[in-house]
Amino acid sequence: MAAYDRPDFWTLKAKKEGYPARSVYKLEEIIKKFGLLKLSGGASGPAVLDIGAAPGSWSLWILRQLKGAGSLTAVDIQDLGISPADANFHFFKGSILDETMRKNLRDAGPYNLVVSDAAPSTTGNRLVDQSRSEELVEAVMGLALEVLAPGGALIMKIFQGGEEKRLIATLKQHFAQARGFKPEACRAESFETYLVASGFSLTR
Ligand SMILES: C[S@@+](CC[C@H](N)C(=O)[O-])C[C@H]1O[C@@H](n2cnc3c(N)ncnc32)[C@H](O)[C@@H]1O
Repeated sequence: MAAYDRPDFWTLKAKKEGYPARSVYKLEEIIKKFGLLKLSGGASGPAVLDIGAAPGSWSLWILRQLKGAGSLTAVDIQDLGISPADANFHFFKGSILDETMRKNLRDAGPYNLVVSDAAPSTTGNRLVDQSRSEELVEAVMGLALEVLAPGGALIMKIFQGGEEKRLIATLKQHFAQARGFKPEACRAESFETYLVASGFSLTR
C-alpha cells in the first residue's frame, strides 16, 4: 500500500467519530482558529452554505455545531453519504457552474458563512485540470459575493500555483480581512490550501 493510501491519524479519527472523510478536521481547525461560527445570524443562529459538500463530513460537523439552531444549505454534483434528519438542513444536487443552481442557492440565502471544499475531478492533463480548478474557484468566489450577508465570512479551497496572491487581493476588495491558511490536517504532499476572508461588505 502506498504511503498516500495508508489510513493516517486523521482518517482513523474521522472513522471513530462517524465522519465519512478526514477533511472534516481541516474545517474544524480553520473555524476554531478564526472563530467563524460565532458569527451572529440573529437570534436564530447563523445560516451556512457548504459548497462541494459530498460525501458530507463538513456538513455533518457544521450541523453538530449548530445543534438545531441556524441553517445549513449544502450543494454538490454527487450524492451525500450522510442523510441528516435536521429540519434546518437542505441539500441541492447539481453544479454551482449552472445558473439555475446559483439562483436556487441565492434564493435560499443570504448566508453568514460560505464554506467551499469543492474540487473538480482530475483528468491527469495538467492544463485541463488547472483550468477546471480555476473555473471552479472563480465560480465559488463569485457565488459567495452574491449570497453572503453583510459581515459574513468565506472559507474556500484553492490549489497553490501562483493564483493565491491575486485571489487574496480580490477578496480584500470585499472583506475586511483575507488571508491564506493551510490546516495541519492537509496532507503534506497536497497542493491544496484555503483562503479565509471575514467581514464581508456590500459596499467595500
Ligand atoms: C474534496 S470533496 C469535498 C469533501 C467534503 N468537504 C467533505 O468533508 O465530505 C470535493 C467535492 O466537490 C464537488 N464538486 C466539484 N465540482 C463541483 C461543482 N461544479 N458544483 C458542486 N460541487 C462540485 C465534488 O463532487 C466533490 O464531492
